[in-house]
Amino acid sequence: MEVIIQPNSEAASFLVARIVQRELRANPHLVLGLATGSTMEQVYRHLVRMHREEHLDFSLCRTFNLDEYVGLFPSDPNSYRHYMEHHLFRQVNIDARNTHLPNGLADDLEAECRRYEAAVKRFGGVDLQLLGIGKAGHIGFNEPLSALQSRTRVKALTPTTLAQNARFFGGPEHTPRRAITMGVGTIIEARRCLLLATGASKAKVIADAVEGPITSMVSASALQLHPRCTVVVDEDAAANLKGAEYYRWIFANEPEWEEYRVPGGT
Ligand code: GLP
Repeated sequence: MEVIIQPNSEAASFLVARIVQRELRANPHLVLGLATGSTMEQVYRHLVRMHREEHLDFSLCRTFNLDEYVGLFPSDPNSYRHYMEHHLFRQVNIDARNTHLPNGLADDLEAECRRYEAAVKRFGGVDLQLLGIGKAGHIGFNEPLSALQSRTRVKALTPTTLAQNARFFGGPEHTPRRAITMGVGTIIEARRCLLLATGASKAKVIADAVEGPITSMVSASALQLHPRCTVVVDEDAAANLKGAEYYRWIFANEPEWEEYRVPGGT
């Protein structure tokens, strides 16, 4: 695992977008794993700008989102399909047929989960998986106690997550209680994982995920098993990291990160 600490959320999200840009330029057929949440909005804003101003081409890329609520129509402003259309898909030249999210309205949710797993495999697996982190330490909707080898399935959301999401739904009683999510095992099969966390509210959970024990209580800690995982944080989210000085040295000195040390762009 590599940890990159940036001065603020703007710089952190820009760095994540630059990594996506580089991977997409290197492989226009990239299978990109996508995440939702307020943290990711800034990344998508940068990608949209890169598309408009720097000709970043999404026409051949395929996307698979981590998760979707059960029971919401794609047109519902709180559905993750709607989020993706609004923040990215409609604003870049991606082919709608190449964008995939689990169908939370399927009659047979179990069959839908199996179909989604199979679709990821059919496209050769995810090349680059974007991740946020929930306050309960979850990636996707892999709530505490999610098996570290879990596959795409329906998860009941914890009170912490319901409370975190309630503001979008106008109160906890309107918040969906279940979601379809890629499993922890599905996520860590991606060739590369890239997690972004910003703000003081993520400081504890980032320290737990990066430096704590691998435990199903913090599903993001499973990323420690991944051979190529980059965690990008701002100063606020890095506040509880014991190894911060070491991580800063690596970013400042290792050749792999040289191009990203220049603030302007690639
Ligand atoms: C939800 C999503 C996660 C996301 C998390 C954090 O739980 N399912 O994928 O990481 O929200 O969201 P935010 O970036 O708004 O803190």
